Amino acid sequence: MDIPKHIAIIMDGNGRWAKERNLTRLAGHKEGIQTVKKVIEAAIKNKIPYLTLYAFSSENWNRPKDEVNGLMSLLNHFLEKELKLLIENEIQLKTIGRIHELPEKTFKCIEDAKEKTAHFDRLTLTIALNYSSQNEIVDAVKNIVKDAKKDSLDIEQLDYPKLASYLYTKDLPDPDLIIRTSGEYRLSNFLLLQSAYAEIYTSPIYWPDFNQSHFTKALTQFAQRERRFGKIS
Ligand code: IPE
Ligand code: IPE
Ligand code: MG
Repeated sequence: MDIPKHIAIIMDGNGRWAKERNLTRLAGHKEGIQTVKKVIEAAIKNKIPYLTLYAFSSENWNRPKDEVNGLMSLLNHFLEKELKLLIENEIQLKTIGRIHELPEKTFKCIEDAKEKTAHFDRLTLTIALNYSSQNEIVDAVKNIVKDAKKDSLDIEQLDYPKLASYLYTKDLPDPDLIIRTSGEYRLSNFLLLQSAYAEIYTSPIYWPDFNQSHFTKALTQFAQRERRFGKIS
């Protein structure tokens, strides 16, 4: 079976899952963390080397303050509690996004977890936090211009691989498979350039209900797709 090297997931539907149960949105996010653990386990079982999870977009700051604060403390809690799990499973933690803009405590938790897992390579788990693909491109352009001015970059030599080396994802291969849960059909500012040739799989299941068998179903579908990359069969 053709296994994707890099799976990126837009974890969506926590709020609707909670609403259907008359629970708070935060209860939905809490339940969503259980799915994160299941999916990490499934990725390891299926020998997927790169898993990227979209956890908080730069647009998500526009949600009610309570929800944003709740999400940040869930994140702190996850990092503190699950660091052991990351280490035991030899998982390297990475992030993409402007994490320096997160609350200081969260930022420090992340930096600590990254440092302690930097030498692992069984699974590279990247969390997209305060991530916006458009901002990522803006940041890349700024740095490209700076380097061109310093003469450390010859602008005539700029091609996509070079440009990609300025993206937050510079150390990651482009995703082969993008999964979005909750029946939405959009990228919501996620990996816009990197997903140029990614296969897209949408599941109607809300993220808290997504499980290992749904994950396997996505893998089976992926294996049946023909990726042509502009060529012919
Ligand atoms: C995804 O679930 C998690 C985050 C964006 C943090 P949502 O919170 O977007 O859930 P819905 O889309 O409102 O159901
Ligand atoms: C995308 O979900 C962001 C994350 C999953 C973190 P949203 O729920 O924020 O996206 P929209 O608003 O439905 O496009
Ligand atoms: Mg949503």
